[in-house]
Amino acid sequence: EKGGFDHFMLKEISEQPLVVQETIGQRVFFENEFEPYKEELPKDIVRGISRICFVACGTSYHAALIGKFLMEYLADMPCEVDYSSEFRYRNAAVNNSVLTIAISQSGETADTLAAMREAKKRGSYVLAITNRLGSTANREADFSILTRAGLEIGVAATKTFTSQLVTLYILALYMGSCKRSISKKILDETLSYLLEVPKRLEEYFPKFLNDIEKSAKIYSGYKNMIFMGRGINYPVALEGALKLKEISYIHAEGYPAGEMKHGPIALLDPTTPVLAIATRSAVTYEKVLSNIEEAKSRRSRVVALISEGDKDAVNLVNDILYVPDVPEIVSPIYNVVPLQLFAYYAAVWLSRDPDKPRNLAKSVTVE
Ligand code: M6R
Repeated sequence: EKGGFDHFMLKEISEQPLVVQETIGQRVFFENEFEPYKEELPKDIVRGISRICFVACGTSYHAALIGKFLMEYLADMPCEVDYSSEFRYRNAAVNNSVLTIAISQSGETADTLAAMREAKKRGSYVLAITNRLGSTANREADFSILTRAGLEIGVAATKTFTSQLVTLYILALYMGSCKRSISKKILDETLSYLLEVPKRLEEYFPKFLNDIEKSAKIYSGYKNMIFMGRGINYPVALEGALKLKEISYIHAEGYPAGEMKHGPIALLDPTTPVLAIATRSAVTYEKVLSNIEEAKSRRSRVVALISEGDKDAVNLVNDILYVPDVPEIVSPIYNVVPLQLFAYYAAVWLSRDPDKPRNLAKSVTVE
């Protein structure tokens, strides 16, 4: 049932090109109006909304943070993101001009269900994005979109995360078109970037798997690690750190690289390496390079995600994880893959079972 893979996690990571393909589906091809989710979320509802509030936990929360960037950039929609467990205990100002979007692959996470109920009580519309038809979130929400990842068995969320991301890109484009806040050029361009993902990801695995495994071996020898990224890749740094701590038990924290100098840089020394997301298309690329230099001058070992063809970042770092050179807006889909693999191989090198990390369950149905 693992289809020749040693673990479900590796199988599920490898399924991502197909999952992206399935999630994009046929609905993004259009002649006049771009309306992929018109059945799930009617256009007049979108037009009546002035703000979005995301609620989610764990990896789904990281998808929501990326969703905020997408909603702002592609739909010009004000957005906030909350942990479900925090949203429900504060006086969240949501009402019928707010769309609360709950993201949960299982659709059964107790805190997210409670946040959805709270939002509804306050008069907000609730849209659930889940991977499970018939799940509680799917049934209770006013509107519901299903991601197309297929069943995920590994406790670590991998392919469900990428399918959430792809759904959020399409949803942001749809909302932007309903509100007429996106230009035809950006819409067409972003869709064309998305359509390239399955093929480029497919090519990625055979090319880079061994390099990632080798780097993971080196870093599995450390007890702590800092992940840093900026902009739309800051949530990817958080996700890389969560994956690593969850399955390898190496202590890892993600930071927006610009925050390092406000405290966390005090942690850096030869015992604390850094993983930097330094892909070339980012507007903050130069800034990340100087963040890497700061880490180097504290004698931290640095491994970085670097775009193929890059000539600058390569000279600064100890170890390189290459990723395809893609536009910044779609880079999270590519960048998360080596981080998932890095965590996977670190766990395997440490003889920890990546499919069944200690103290964790696949669905967290208690509050
Ligand atoms: O089913 P959900 O998406 O609501 O689950 C949320 C978190 O429990 C989940 O993402 C958790 O953080 C994963 N094990 C991370 O890999």
